[in-house]
Amino acid sequence: MVTRREFLDTLAVGAAGLAISSTAKSYGQIMGSNDRLNFAVIGLNSRAYAHLSALKANKRDARITHVCDVDSNILAKFAAATQQEMGEPAKPEKDFRNVLQLKEVDAITIATPDHWHAPMAILGLQAGKNVYVEKPCSHNPAEGALLVQAQAKYGKLVQMGTQQRSSKHTIEIVDRIHNGLIGRAYYAKAWYSNVRKSIGIGHDIPVPASLDWDLWQGPAPRRAYRSNVHPYNWHWFKIYGTGETLNNGTHEIDVCRWALGVDFPNSVAASGGRYHFKDDWQFYDTLLTSFNYADKMIAWEGKCCQGMKFYGRDRGSVIMGTTGSVLVDRDGYEIYDLKGNKTSEFKTGGETSSADLTGRDSMTDAHFANFIAGIRHGEKLHAPINVGNVAVTMLQLSNIAWEVNRQLELDASNGHILRDADAMKLWDRDYEKGWAPHL
Ligand SMILES: NC(=O)c1ccc[n+]([C@@H]2O[C@H](COP(=O)([O-])OP(=O)(O)OC[C@H]3O[C@@H](n4cnc5c(N)ncnc54)[C@H](O)[C@@H]3O)[C@@H](O)[C@H]2O)c1
Repeated sequence: MVTRREFLDTLAVGAAGLAISSTAKSYGQIMGSNDRLNFAVIGLNSRAYAHLSALKANKRDARITHVCDVDSNILAKFAAATQQEMGEPAKPEKDFRNVLQLKEVDAITIATPDHWHAPMAILGLQAGKNVYVEKPCSHNPAEGALLVQAQAKYGKLVQMGTQQRSSKHTIEIVDRIHNGLIGRAYYAKAWYSNVRKSIGIGHDIPVPASLDWDLWQGPAPRRAYRSNVHPYNWHWFKIYGTGETLNNGTHEIDVCRWALGVDFPNSVAASGGRYHFKDDWQFYDTLLTSFNYADKMIAWEGKCCQGMKFYGRDRGSVIMGTTGSVLVDRDGYEIYDLKGNKTSEFKTGGETSSADLTGRDSMTDAHFANFIAGIRHGEKLHAPINVGNVAVTMLQLSNIAWEVNRQLELDASNGHILRDADAMKLWDRDYEKGWAPHL
C-alpha cells in the first residue's frame, strides 16, 4: 500500500519533470489521499492574514497545523485568528526551524520580511517542504538564482506570491494578446502610486520583550534594534527590504513581461530619488525604469508618496501593440483600438480587488488552490519559482541601476550585468556569519 507521504513525494518528483497520470480514479484508490495538506504559516503580522483567508477558502484540501513568528504578540494574535477562521487550533512556534523538522508538515508559506525569503525557502526545500513564498522571492539576484537551483535540486514545489498569475481575467487577456488581439505587442507600461507617510528619523531602543530580534535579523548583518523598522517599515532599509519597486512593481512588471512574452532585457536604466521626505528611508520614493529589449520595451513608474493616478488607477499595466492596446489590472481589463478608443471592457465586480492586501481576495484564493493542486495532483503552477524569479531579478537590476546611476548592459540569458564590476558587486549581499544560504 502506498502511504499518503510516499504518494505526495512521487507527485513532487512528477511536478519536477516526470509525467505522472493522476486520474480521479487512481488518486482515490491511494490510502489517505483525501487527507488535507498540513501547512505552516510563517511571518504573521500582515500579509499572512491573506494566507489564512486563502487557506480557509481551500479548507477542503488544507489545514494550518503550525504558525510561526518571532514576535510573541503577533504570534498569539494570529494563532487566535487561525482558531477562529479555520475552526481548528494551530500550534504556535517561535522558531520556524523546529517546524521544518516535523514530518507531518507538507508545506510552508512565507510572509516574513524580504531578507528572509530565499534563505527560508531554501531551508524549507532542504527539509522536504513545498513552499509558497511571498514576492519578492529574494533579496538580491544571486539568492533568487540559488532558490531556482534549490527547487530543481530538491524537487518540491515553490510558488511565488504574484497572485495575479492566478486571476482568470488576466490569464484570459494575456492569452488573447499572445493570439494577436493587439497585433504585435511591443511596449508595456506598469505603474503604482501610494501616499505613504514619512518613517521619520528612528533611534536605537531596547528590543521589545515580545521580540526575538536575533531571529528576526537571521541572514542580515546584526544591527541595534531601531524604533522605525519592525513591523513593515523594514521595506525601506536596504539590508532587509527591496524598496517599492520590488514591493509592488513585482506584480505589474510580471504581467507586462508575461504579456510581451519576454524574459531578461538587454539593458536597464533607472532614475529617481527620495524627493518627498528626508528621513531614514534608504530607497527612492519616485522611480522611472526602462527595460530594453531588441524590439520591445517595458517601462515602470513607481510613486510612494504621490497619489496621482494613471488611467484612473493607482496601479496597473498597459500593453500596447501594432493594432491596439490593453489596460489590465486586478479588477478587469479594457481593450482600445490604435487611436485610443475603448472597444470593450471586462470588470470582475471588484471581488479580486486587493487594495487591502491583508484581507480576502479571490486571486490569492485561486493562487493557493493552484499551489495545493500542484502538490496533490501535479497541476502546473501559475507562478513557479523559475518564472517568478525573472521579474524579481529585473526589478533588482532596476534597483542596482538606480544605485550606481547608470544604464546596465545585461546578458539576456541570465540577467548578469556586463562590463560593470562595481554594479555586479550588488548582485549579492553580505550575510550574518553562518546564515548564508547554500545548496
Ligand atoms: N502578494 C501580495 O500582494 C503581498 C501583499 C503584502 C505583502 N506581501 C509580502 O509579504 C511579506 C510580509 O509583508 P508584511 O507587510 O506582512 O510585513 P510585516 O513586517 O507586517 O510582517 C512580517 C512578519 O514576519 C515576522 N518575522 C520576521 N522574521 C521572522 C522569522 N525568522 N520567523 C518568523 N517570523 C518572522 C515579523 O515578526 C513580522 O510579524 C513581504 O515580503 C511583502 O512583500 C505580499
